[in-house]
Amino acid sequence: MLRGNLELWFAFFTCLVLAGLYGFYVFWTREIPAAGELLGHAIGILGFILMLMTETLYSLRKRTRLASFGRMSTWLKIHIYTGVVGPFMVLLHTSWKFNGLAGATTLLTVIIVISGFVGRYVYTRIPRTLDGLEIESALSQAALRQARRLMALWHTVHIPIGIALFLSAFAHIFAALYYSTLLK
Ligand code: HEM
Ligand code: HEM
Repeated sequence: MLRGNLELWFAFFTCLVLAGLYGFYVFWTREIPAAGELLGHAIGILGFILMLMTETLYSLRKRTRLASFGRMSTWLKIHIYTGVVGPFMVLLHTSWKFNGLAGATTLLTVIIVISGFVGRYVYTRIPRTLDGLEIESALSQAALRQARRLMALWHTVHIPIGIALFLSAFAHIFAALYYSTLLK
């Protein structure tokens, strides 16, 4: 079980270490890092970079011939790792206030991560080679067709949520930097 889910264990371990450091900071300074100050800003930016990597790298590997290095399965593992750790860092960035657009962006982030876990579950129902190609014979045809249909349905939900998330994140970043940082 542990071998098959290595990227998830690594991701949870990283989150645990980050949570520990965050807890230590809060305990030491007796204050929650504000989203617009140095530490809060830094975790927000790093987390957002990881989220951008999650959104783009796997799709680029999957859909273009230009980037054809590395196994698809490895890229999906990286996708999952950055897709858990990035949002977690962004969560620590929020300073636990969820008003307006920034709050909506956080909600979309939570939704896409949960939806990622659902997709991963369906994805593993479809037998594939190490390079991500589907294997026809390993599962009964009816069950395979059903899993494929479910995966296609999942894509039509997951991808628009991702787009909405990044549109709202960019609006938040622009507004936050303009109103709370540049105008200060
Ligand atoms: C998906 C990514 C992100 C999410 C979900 C997010 C979410 C949030 C939330 C919930 C807050 C608190 C809002 C409040 O006080 O009610 C916040 C504040 C803030 N965020 Fe983000 N954030 C993200 C990425 C970023 C990035 C990349 C930057 C900077 C480049 C940034 C800059 C700021 C700033 C400056 C504030 C403070 C605003 C203030 O003090 O009024 N955020 N963010
Ligand atoms: C910031 C968070 C995330 C974003 C923005 C994101 C975005 C995306 C996008 C755009 C795709 C479509 C790729 C394509 O077909 O071109 C995708 C696929 C996928 N994602 Fe995520 N994702 C995130 C987190 C996660 C997480 C946490 C998991 C699992 C725990 C996950 C599992 C998957 C799976 C299984 C696929 C389908 C792979 C395939 O059909 O080839 N994602 N994701």
